[in-house]
Amino acid sequence: MPKITFAGQSIECELGENLRRVLLDANLPLYNGIAQKIHCRGLGTCGTCAVQVEGEVSPTTAVERWRLGFPPHRQKQNLRLACQCKIQGDLQLTKFDGLWGHRLPEKS
Ligand code: FES
Repeated sequence: MPKITFAGQSIECELGENLRRVLLDANLPLYNGIAQKIHCRGLGTCGTCAVQVEGEVSPTTAVERWRLGFPPHRQKQNLRLACQCKIQGDLQLTKFDGLWGHRLPEKS
């Protein structure tokens, strides 16, 4: 069973499960601010479920590449949309600030 570490908690899930579904079922804070109430419900179009993923998940989908390709996201940030990811192993996740979770810390 893969282990997901996120927001100071660890949970286990089934291989191949949808990352967004697993986080929401565990009441983990996938969305920031008003995005908790207003989002695309996993269609891959709003971009608010973006997280940094360390570990194995499914390859990016076409809709994910499209949504991460325009502001406020930038492709070079290497974020993933949780709603488009199938879990393929242990994961360490980070959610950044901003409505879309797009505000990565400045590099010093
Ligand atoms: S929930 Fe909207 S892009 Fe993932």
